Amino acid sequence: MAVSVLMVCLGNICRSPLAEAALRRHAAQLGVNATVDSAGTGGWHIGDPPDPRACEVAMRLGGLDITGYRGRQLSLNDFNAFDYIVAMDQSNLDNIIAMRPAVSNARLSMLLDHVPGQEGRAVADPYYGDIADFELCWRVVDAAVLHFAQMLAEQNGTRC
Ligand code: 4NP
Repeated sequence: MAVSVLMVCLGNICRSPLAEAALRRHAAQLGVNATVDSAGTGGWHIGDPPDPRACEVAMRLGGLDITGYRGRQLSLNDFNAFDYIVAMDQSNLDNIIAMRPAVSNARLSMLLDHVPGQEGRAVADPYYGDIADFELCWRVVDAAVLHFAQMLAEQNGTRC
């Protein structure tokens, strides 16, 4: 059975689509059967493609096309549909915890909790920054997601 992971940020157009794309690739490369999605705690960008700067760095630095992704908002159903819900920063995590229904098996964390020495740190929001902030965001997210995918490979087994 596939392990399921929901990456969550505020708008679902910058950080969490990058994390979604990175996890798809790292999981595939590690042989982890993962269902991956992303969502925002806010609803401003429902139905929107990712920010063009996120699309650009995903392609240029990661070779990944995320232009077909579309924004959606975190919903109550996600708390039972996903094994892991991974927030990009503390504010996202606080919003997720505030929404969590009484019955939910989803394991909640922040992405950088999965990187030794980076526990509790935020993936900085690049939305109000420039392209250099998006480049840094991609590098931070991609490296952190590799750690997360390695944990999945150890805890949930592989297809191989
Ligand atoms: P994200 O960045 O949470 O990484 O997708 C943001 C995108 C949009 C907004 C805020 C953050 N916004 O306020 O519209």
